[in-house]
Amino acid sequence: MKVETISDPRIEFFDSIADKWDTWHDLQDLNGKLVVLLEEFGINKDESILDVGCGTGNLTISLLQKLGPAGRIIAIDISKEMLERARKKVDDNRVTWHLSSADQLSIEDNTMDRVICFSVWPHFQNHEAVARELRRVLRPMGHLHIVHLISRSKVNHIHEEAHPSVHHDHLVSACETAGLLKKNGFSVISMTDDEQRYIITACK
Ligand SMILES: C[S@@+](CC[C@H](N)C(=O)[O-])C[C@H]1O[C@@H](n2cnc3c(N)ncnc32)[C@H](O)[C@@H]1O
Repeated sequence: MKVETISDPRIEFFDSIADKWDTWHDLQDLNGKLVVLLEEFGINKDESILDVGCGTGNLTISLLQKLGPAGRIIAIDISKEMLERARKKVDDNRVTWHLSSADQLSIEDNTMDRVICFSVWPHFQNHEAVARELRRVLRPMGHLHIVHLISRSKVNHIHEEAHPSVHHDHLVSACETAGLLKKNGFSVISMTDDEQRYIITACK
């Protein structure tokens, strides 16, 4: 596992909930929703995909179901405890684990076909820096997906009720996020911001 030095007040919080994370979710239902979503994304079986804020590896597992033997995943997280659980759960040599923050990746330029930020976008300290970094590692025409499988208002309600370190991790409107992505060199392809999902897809 690659390890970077990270300074973020959220690390302690995410470390502290790593043990409980999977018990708060219906994993079978989540996998079902993710399989449908990944079908919509049109993933090819030999892609290289970056799973940002992988947590305990739930998206990683669904992605592996879509990839063939030549497919690759780099799964990154700032929480050592989340990564430990993901690594134990997902024993697959197509996955590389990095303890690193989305704004500082030890990944070469132009190497990823796709980047997925699943339930992590509001937690970033500097969204412009993250957008630039994700664009850097994407290949030309590579895709970025920002995904929440609940509404924006529900995401914000959860954060307001949670630990102080994430109280202000507000998910802004899809239009506002799209504006930030465009400003940092992405073309926005589609946006959904409704009662069920918040999904933005952009292209380098
Ligand atoms: C709400 S959890 C979602 C986990 C996983 N994507 C899922 O949906 O099951 C957010 C995750 O993002 C990680 N995270 C927060 N800020 C991050 C950053 N700057 N870079 C990488 N990971 C981050 C947290 O440690 C946590 O594991």
